[in-house]
Amino acid sequence: MKKALITGITGQDGSYLAEILIQKGYQVHGMVRRSSSFNTNRIDHLIENKALKDKFFFHHGDITDNNSIRNILEKSNPDEIYNLAAQSHVRVSFDIPDYTAQVDALGTLNFLEAIKQNNKKIKFYQASSSELYGKIQEDIQNENTPFYPRSPYGVAKLYAYWIIKNYREAYNIFACNGILFNHESPRRGETFVTRKISKEVAQIKNGKNTKIILGNLDAKRDWGYAPEYCEGMWQILQHSSPDDFVLATGKSHSVREFVSEAFKIIGINIEWIGKGVNEKGVDKNSKKILVEINPKYFRPTEVDSLTGDYSKAKKILGWEPKTKFSKLVEIMVKSDYDLITKK
Ligand code: NAP
Ligand code: GDD
Repeated sequence: MKKALITGITGQDGSYLAEILIQKGYQVHGMVRRSSSFNTNRIDHLIENKALKDKFFFHHGDITDNNSIRNILEKSNPDEIYNLAAQSHVRVSFDIPDYTAQVDALGTLNFLEAIKQNNKKIKFYQASSSELYGKIQEDIQNENTPFYPRSPYGVAKLYAYWIIKNYREAYNIFACNGILFNHESPRRGETFVTRKISKEVAQIKNGKNTKIILGNLDAKRDWGYAPEYCEGMWQILQHSSPDDFVLATGKSHSVREFVSEAFKIIGINIEWIGKGVNEKGVDKNSKKILVEINPKYFRPTEVDSLTGDYSKAKKILGWEPKTKFSKLVEIMVKSDYDLITKK
């Protein structure tokens, strides 16, 4: 039985990847950070499933702590490692740049060193990001597009990207970068813009909220559906040689479009009035103001627009995104509405 170690298993992607790998017959080990409050809600169904008692294990650890990495590698003896752990919030990385670098940059190095010293046969997947492209140098970004990160998060991930390449070339380690564009789901963290919108639109429908307060409505992202991207991570490590791949949909939409689409799901048409920080989203029928802007959500340097070219992944891995933008928004809003009404 193949064994995989997932860091960041309590996050959106880690939880989907764990399910996918168990389904494929792997024994899955996850690194979980100790927290003063519960942080395993996305994987509780796996922890509590008695049928998985020989298939799913979790270990406390932290990717900034070399001793815990060594211990987990000894206990799990993995064939593959998926390094998904990160301080993953771009806006927050401006407040805690040093910590973000410790986790997102040096945490990756810690694993590569452990592999180099203990078992160079382990395959390693690194969660690289479209944030590397930042201030974009080409309208559509692929594996050859120059990087220009625009946040401490992006810069830390740039270090991780290059150290993966360097250890691959220097020590012949099977280390790969998945350069993933934004991918979302009902399990997305609630402070990322898509989930913030889907949750608050559902609350408005249910009468539990009256308004959504957002930052930059002009930002454009290439949004895909997370479970499909986690399948792609696995495909990247199954390729015959280690390489770097972009996973994306090739289509981008603005935050404003996401908001309009989300309100459509609950039967509200939004009309946009005003400009700049005074722009408002208004219900066409009732004329109620439902969306406003607060500059506190702006970033010191913004990534204006991202659109990925996934043709290499399609050609070499046979990977393709399936879920379209409007379906993704529908899945998220409906899931949040169900969550609220179940409470
Ligand atoms: P997420 O939901 O924020 O999950 C991050 C995970 O990392 C959580 O399990 C978190 O644990 C864990 N973590 C944070 N710091 C850690 C540390 N020092 N040691 C061990 N674990 C730590 O992120 P995601 O959306 O699933 O993304 C997964 C990875 O892909 C991240 O590296 C992210 O930067 C990258 N990425 C994401 C996207 C996207 O659109 N989602 C796109 C490109 C790249 P807690 O639960 O304890 O906080
Ligand atoms: N979070 C947030 N909250 N973002 C907002 C808001 C708001 O209220 N209003 C507007 N935005 C804009 C941000 O300024 C940004 O341009 C865009 O919405 C997306 O923000 P996030 O959802 O926070 O995601 P991100 O694109 O910065 O980062 C995510 O995707 C990266 C891949 O490109 C994260 O998952 C990163 O970890 C990942 O690497």
